Amino acid sequence: MKEEVRVLIDEEKVAKRVKELAEQINRDYEGKKIHMICILKGSVFFTCELAKYIKVPVSMDFMSVSSYGDGLTSSGCITINQDLTMNIEGKEVLLVEDIVDSGRTLSYLAHMLQKRNPASLKICTLLDKPQCRVAEVESAYTGFEIEDLFVVGFGLDYAQRYRNLPYIGELIIKED
Ligand code: IMP
Ligand code: MG
Repeated sequence: MKEEVRVLIDEEKVAKRVKELAEQINRDYEGKKIHMICILKGSVFFTCELAKYIKVPVSMDFMSVSSYGDGLTSSGCITINQDLTMNIEGKEVLLVEDIVDSGRTLSYLAHMLQKRNPASLKICTLLDKPQCRVAEVESAYTGFEIEDLFVVGFGLDYAQRYRNLPYIGELIIKED
């Protein structure tokens, strides 16, 4: 089996879009503070890049969840590997995700976090595959809508590899 990565969204386009999202967020949160929640590991690149352009005060926390295992399809079973370290009660929470696929992960997380009484809870995702949706997710900020492809790079992995690519690429697996 051979793996190949074909560029889908190049580095420049990703960078430009991240800045646009930050500008939108800056407008919406003017006069407020943002408590960013980064969902490890996939959204770490996106969260950090986005945070660099946010002008209102930012605090950050991290949560590690798994939903995929090492394969290409969602298991539908969400495990919290590491919970938040800070209380979110009364905070303006921005949940930052790499990609919404079936929506199961974010739907589960959003419900779980809502019970902790944040002042507000919004979702920001770099990528969205709307065709694959099974569970409802309301994303306030979306970088790019993409087709039903398996993508890697800018934090997204396949079996823990390719996260470090500076662009978003389609993973193509060829039988020998
Ligand atoms: P969902 O619960 O099906 O929406 O899955 C969301 C999670 O699955 C994301 O946070 C990613 O970690 C992973 N995922 C979904 N699609 C892809 C993909 O195309 N490439 C890499 N990871 C993906
Ligand atoms: Mg993820």
